[in-house]
Order: sequence, then structure tokens, then C-alpha cells
Amino acid sequence: MSISIQARAIAPSPTFALNEKARLLREKGEPVISLGIGEPKNPTPINAILSSSAKLRVGDVKYSRVDGTPSLKKAIIRYTEEHYGRVVAPENIIVTTGAKQSLYNIIYTLVNPQDEVIMLAPYWVSYPEMIKMCYGVPVEVVPEDGTFYHRMQDIEQKVSSYTKAIIINSPNNPSGVMYSEAFVAELVEFCERKGIYLIMDDIYHKLVFDRKQWIPGYKHSNKDVENSRLIVVNGIAKSYGMTGFRIGWVVAPRKLVEVMTNVQGNMTSNPSVLLQSAAEGALTGQQATIENLRLTIENNRSIILNELKAFNDIKLCEPDGTFYCLPDFRAYDSDSSRLAKFILDKALVVTVPGAAFGMEGHLRLSYAGSVKHITEGIERIRWVLDPEAPNEIYIGDRKLIRDWL
Ligand SMILES: Cc1ncc(COP(=O)(O)O)c(C=O)c1O
Repeated sequence: MSISIQARAIAPSPTFALNEKARLLREKGEPVISLGIGEPKNPTPINAILSSSAKLRVGDVKYSRVDGTPSLKKAIIRYTEEHYGRVVAPENIIVTTGAKQSLYNIIYTLVNPQDEVIMLAPYWVSYPEMIKMCYGVPVEVVPEDGTFYHRMQDIEQKVSSYTKAIIINSPNNPSGVMYSEAFVAELVEFCERKGIYLIMDDIYHKLVFDRKQWIPGYKHSNKDVENSRLIVVNGIAKSYGMTGFRIGWVVAPRKLVEVMTNVQGNMTSNPSVLLQSAAEGALTGQQATIENLRLTIENNRSIILNELKAFNDIKLCEPDGTFYCLPDFRAYDSDSSRLAKFILDKALVVTVPGAAFGMEGHLRLSYAGSVKHITEGIERIRWVLDPEAPNEIYIGDRKLIRDWL
């Protein structure tokens, strides 16, 4: 079989691979617990259902403009004004099939072969693969050991004449940390001054805990959207728990949106109008669902942190948001893929190896699921790794005895 060099270079999504494995085990009746995927359990907001079903009822499901329906764009304009303090035009927005396509459109539009895109480790798994798909070069900036925060001078050191963009994601998947306002301000100022695009993946911006305040990058730019180097990505997957609806969007200068629209027009055209109208319903409907989801996740975060305290040998930066944390498991095994596989084999718990996020020795744990799964999942991991945990456990109706420590 002849497969292109660039396609061969793309790694499979580690979350999808592990979830597939878990699904197969589950199908065999195994009591698998997934702390792998980032997907909240909330029901779809009612306004999203009503809005898309109204369209379906009358069969009004045709192509829309490639860059999104005018009415969804109107809702995004209002959202941008409310959360970003900027009034943007419809021409500054493109609606995409999930935030994933937003990111791909942006990178494809900006990056020439060999151009570099800087990512702050830990970074979302798909960034390096998307950059490579566009023949660009992903460049990592690693924080000081034991933290997930970066120093401006470490970022500046990685900037070269090939640097086209920096991508940040705050609150961050996989660590859950939110960058400080001072850091974001410095980064915005640096990128605007140097003419480097700053891609801000804000997909988790509403899932923030402890009354902390998420601050948009635009707050620190005195340029209007048209002349700014900031490019904003957002969507409904995480804040509204509408992962399957696959709607995201970009806010950017018009020229970039125009080119992204050409790219998307030749690739997927418009995202489904049914799903665009669901997104519109979510954005314009009752917003209480978001706060309910945030409170549930915040409570889950407290539970997982409490459970993790039982381990003597893991280190953890407490998450400020998202539904992930990224404990350092190097005291148990420095190879995160081997460790994730061991935990799945021994205790049927899915975790995601930190190596995929540029943080070897760590495991990403999702607390988007049920409290029962979180507590039982962590108890099982402790049974696998911690000699001080009781050496017997029930997994499903099987009593297991640990004989490897
Ligand atoms: C940081 C980050 N950006 C983008 C996405 C993609 O979101 P969507 O499901 O809207 O494509 C995800 C999904 O997991 C994510 O974690």
C-alpha cells in the first residue's frame, strides 16, 4: 500500500485509541471506567434541541453560506461582545465543524512549509499533528519542572524568523491550569509587537473554578480586531457539553476569515445547518445549563483532588478549570504510555498518557464523568500503584489480589 509521507507522519489521536480499547472491553462485559475522554455528561440544552428540531420539522436543511448562517453569526457576535468586550462584524467570523476545524483552518491559512508554530507544553494533542499536516514545524516550550507555567523569556528564546504563530489554550487541556492575566498580557503585547499571530483556543473559558476570572486576550490589545494579531477560537462542545454537535468558530481579521472560508469551502463547506441552529439555540437560550455544568465539574474536581491526596508519591498542580488534571506519576513509572497500559490491563481504568501532550511521566485524568466513576477509578489506580493501598479490591464482581508490588 502506498501512503503519503505526510499522512504517515500523523499520530492517531491517543484519546480516541484508548477509548476504542475501552469500548471493546466494555462490549465484552468488562467493568471499564474511563477517566480518559473529555466529555461532560449533561443533557443537551433544551433550546438547542428545540431550535434544531424546528428546522428538521419543516425539512429546512440545505446548504448554508460556507462561513455560517447569518443568525448563528449574530449570536456569536453577541457572545463575543459579552465575553470579549469586542464588537465584531459577521466578516470577522467563520463557523466550523467543531473547534478542531477552526484550528486546522487557521493553521492551514497561516503556515507556509517550514514555518514554525510555538506551543506551550503541556499542549492539546492535536496541535502538533495539525501543524505537521500543514507542513509546518511544531516548536515546544517546556515549563520549569513541577509547574505548568511558562516564563516569557523561555518563549522568546524559541522565536525565530520562521515563527508564524503561538497557540495557547487557557484554561488548559490537559493540565487544567489557567494562565495568569499578567502572562497573557505579556504574550499579547509581545505578539502584537513582533507581528506573530497569537491563536487563543478559548474552548474551556467558561469552565473555571473557585470564582476565578477568565480574562480574554483582547483586553490587553489596544488594536481593533482588524489590525490585531489575535485569533480567537471557541465553540459549544465543552461549555455547553455539546460535543457531538460539532460547532466551533473563529474570530479573526476579515482577510484571514475570507481565506479560511475558501479553504473550508473546498473541504467540508458549511457545518450542518441543523447543528448550526442547535448552536444558535444554545447561545441564545437559557444560560443556566452552563452554570449547572460548571458547578458539577467543580464539585468533581474537588472529589478527584481529595482522592488523589491518598497517594504519597504523585505531584499535582491543582486545576483552575476544564475537566482535566495532569498528575505527575514519575515516582511510579516515567513512561506514561506504559503506565496507562498497565493501569488499563490491571484495573480496567482508562487514562491518557502525558507523553501525547508533551508531558512525559504524567497521566491526564478526566473528571467529566460521574462521581462514582471518579472515586472508584482513583481507588483502582491506587490499588495498582501504591504499596500502601489495600492489596485486595473488587472490580465488578471479581475479587483481585495485587501480586506485583
Ligand atoms: C483544547 C481543545 N481545543 C479544541 C478542541 C476541539 O473541540 P471540538 O470538539 O469543538 O472540535 C478540544 C477538544 O477536546 C480541546 O480540548
